[in-house]
Amino acid sequence: METNFLIIGSGAAGLTLAVKLAAKFPKKKITVVTKAHVSESNTKYAQGGVAAVFDLKKDSFQKHIDDTLRAGDGLCDEAVVEMVITEGPERLRELMEWGAKFDTDANGQLTLGREGGHSKFRVIHHKDTTGNEIERTLLERSNKLQNITMLPHHFAIDLITEHHFSEGKNENLSCYGAYVLDQISGNIFTIKADCTTLASGGMGQVYGHTTNPTVATGDGIAMAYRATARIQNMEFIQFHPTALYDGKNQSSFLISEAVRGFGAFLRNKNGERFMFNYDARGELASRDIVSRAIDSEMKNSGDDCVYLDCTHLNIDDFKKHFPNIYETCLQRNKNIAKDWIPVVPASHYLCGGVVVDVDGRTSLQNLFACGECSYTGLHGANRLASNSLLEALVYADRIFKYLCKHQPWQTTKDIPEWNDAGTVLLKDVEILQQKTVQLQSLMRRFAGVVRNNKDLKKASIQLEMLYFEVEALYQKHKLNTSLSELRNMVNVAHLIIQQSLIRKENRGGYFNEDYNKESVENIVNDKI
Ligand code: FAD
Ligand code: SIN
Repeated sequence: METNFLIIGSGAAGLTLAVKLAAKFPKKKITVVTKAHVSESNTKYAQGGVAAVFDLKKDSFQKHIDDTLRAGDGLCDEAVVEMVITEGPERLRELMEWGAKFDTDANGQLTLGREGGHSKFRVIHHKDTTGNEIERTLLERSNKLQNITMLPHHFAIDLITEHHFSEGKNENLSCYGAYVLDQISGNIFTIKADCTTLASGGMGQVYGHTTNPTVATGDGIAMAYRATARIQNMEFIQFHPTALYDGKNQSSFLISEAVRGFGAFLRNKNGERFMFNYDARGELASRDIVSRAIDSEMKNSGDDCVYLDCTHLNIDDFKKHFPNIYETCLQRNKNIAKDWIPVVPASHYLCGGVVVDVDGRTSLQNLFACGECSYTGLHGANRLASNSLLEALVYADRIFKYLCKHQPWQTTKDIPEWNDAGTVLLKDVEILQQKTVQLQSLMRRFAGVVRNNKDLKKASIQLEMLYFEVEALYQKHKLNTSLSELRNMVNVAHLIIQQSLIRKENRGGYFNEDYNKESVENIVNDKI
């Protein structure tokens, strides 16, 4: 198959780019491959909203910039922060023009929420289902554009570069598209593209306990890594402090930070509102601080969770703002009006990823990346709440504008077909499940909210063994989705552990017991 623009992923980042390109270039072909139902993505589950400065009387771009830099703890790229924050409101207006509905007051003014680390109310939202509203809007728009070919249940396996067709050492690599698995037929085929964009989202599943859906297995990052693109800041995993704790059930449901912005308290089992022992901002400290505080409360008490107390809040108002959270808790036998909600930190967001410049260009020619799989410099060592949808929208637009000025050249290479000669069907499917569970528990145990060097080294050794086992399965068997995802998660875990070991200090969302707060040399992690 040939296309002009190949986009991998149908969340906020991928769809925004697709609809913009399709409208501007009606004669060009835009192909979106996405590995599940078209709407399945982290975007669909986003609750709190999108941070952007709309109320210039009470807020300012500078205040949003300052909050972002403070959360990022010295590692943000200040020019990128300024660019994203000043361009953000325009991207949201555009989304509203396309039909997105955000909550407004009786005068038609946007109602603004507040989350951890924000000094002002600036989070625009659609109740507690903002991501679903954005996804709906973008899908409706893309359905109207004839030149978008949407390929749901298609899994991108690997990016095509010179590695696939030329011998010897290659410098200045280019991307020529991707090998893609049709998940229904099991066939693997080539999509040759003038320009490829990774918009493949996050990797929460590497930890198992996560707010992310099952599609979030870090595929784009692993593909880019195998294609030797630059990957950075993988040690900065953001753990969300308040995932609903449901002892037996691994799939976590997020209780938005906006609930704490709305006035909920965090309490330990004894009823103590413990957050002020850790930070003067109490429940509204940035989420790395809240996650570590909860981790410490749980370790000190031996309890499995802490509690979010909403019982003092006006429950009718609560239901109006957070209908999805209220209902989901009720379905899980927790009545927010009466019960404290058991919560634990869970892996939520990857601050690092495939390194891109201000136009979304990666270190490989004709390969772009945007959204959660990319590292732009906006988040630095820790993402400020509700800045990621903003980043996805702004960077999709940056790539679009770049491509309007610089049309990628037509690629002329003869791309070899995917070669799986000599491989056989994998009969023992349970082995993949076992190895996935092994990987996830290793990552939770040795590379979680609080790390130390001894554990990271243990993780590195165990992961190496797992890597060889999974590679052996990959070499011998026909590829399927689970095997590809496992292979990708092992690659991503390797990057997290190696880049954690390189960071010799505590910073932002990265906390290692072996360093004190003001710590030592900062080895800037170049490509691993
Ligand atoms: P995604 O929306 O995750 O889309 C990735 C797409 O790539 C999916 O369609 C996926 O199926 C596809 N894909 C992945 N791998 C492959 C492959 N190999 N082949 C083909 N397709 C592939 N951020 C905020 O700013 N505000 C919030 O309120 C907020 N709340 C959140 C709540 C939850 C529960 C979660 C999980 C995240 C939240 N976030 C929030 C983070 C935010 O939702 C994500 O960072 C953002 O949506 C990422 O968008 P994206 O387009 O980059 O990726
Ligand atoms: C939330 O609603 O708490 C999630 C917000 C975010 O991840 O930005």
